[in-house]
Amino acid sequence: MTIWDTFLWVVLPYAALVLFVAGHVWRYRHDQFGWTSRSTQLLEGRWLAWGSNLFHYGALAAIAGHVLGILVPNWLTSAVGISEFTYHFISAIPGSIAGVVCVAGLVILIVRRAAFVRVRRTTDAVDVAVYTLLAIVIGLGIGETLAVNAFGPGYDYRSTVAIWFRGLFWLHPEPQLMAGAPLVYQLHAASAWALYALWPFSRLVHVWSLPWQYLGRPYILYRSRYAAARR
Ligand code: HEM
Repeated sequence: MTIWDTFLWVVLPYAALVLFVAGHVWRYRHDQFGWTSRSTQLLEGRWLAWGSNLFHYGALAAIAGHVLGILVPNWLTSAVGISEFTYHFISAIPGSIAGVVCVAGLVILIVRRAAFVRVRRTTDAVDVAVYTLLAIVIGLGIGETLAVNAFGPGYDYRSTVAIWFRGLFWLHPEPQLMAGAPLVYQLHAASAWALYALWPFSRLVHVWSLPWQYLGRPYILYRSRYAAARR
């Protein structure tokens, strides 16, 4: 364990969490009108519909995977009847599909932003930083799932990364657990903290304004242009 490990696996996470919470409070109090995804659908719709849907559904499935694999301890998944084999099956097959769908959506969104001049013009420095971090975090995540777990030697991150992550919230950080993890897991986690630190200052705040009613009806943002005529 070096001082660098303490910085990466204790100082960085707590600094990012403080920025995450305080940043959201600050943004809510000072910029409620800017609390939006700053949708560019009016500027371009076809690529957005594909990119946004693939990215969001892939990300939601990946988040569900993180809850199961990182937040829920081994003993609890075993207690509810999920064996180690079943867990690894879920992590390898649906996890890989979620990751690939998420990457496909992100690539479409990034190409769209670069290719359409009108969309590019609405892109500021924070957007570039967010897209870069998302590409790094998600790229490394799918690398872990495909290259290590699905087709590689495997790595039991539930005995290291997951325990370290949960320990941060009990105020019992165990940086040595991350210090020994493979590099790809270290880079994935460290870049995720950077993303959380930037989150409140970006368009990602829209995540906390959940349109729950969308779950039970068609995606209203992408209503067919003929829908109005039909009505
Ligand atoms: C510190 C926070 C995080 C930790 C500790 C973490 C940990 C992990 C681990 C251990 C895996 C491998 C899962 C497996 O092989 O079964 C993984 C995969 C992945 N992660 Fe993360 N992650 C974090 C944050 C994020 C964030 C913020 C994103 C998205 C922006 C993300 C996106 C992904 C994706 C797309 C995959 C691959 C697909 C999947 O397994 O679902 N992760 N992550």
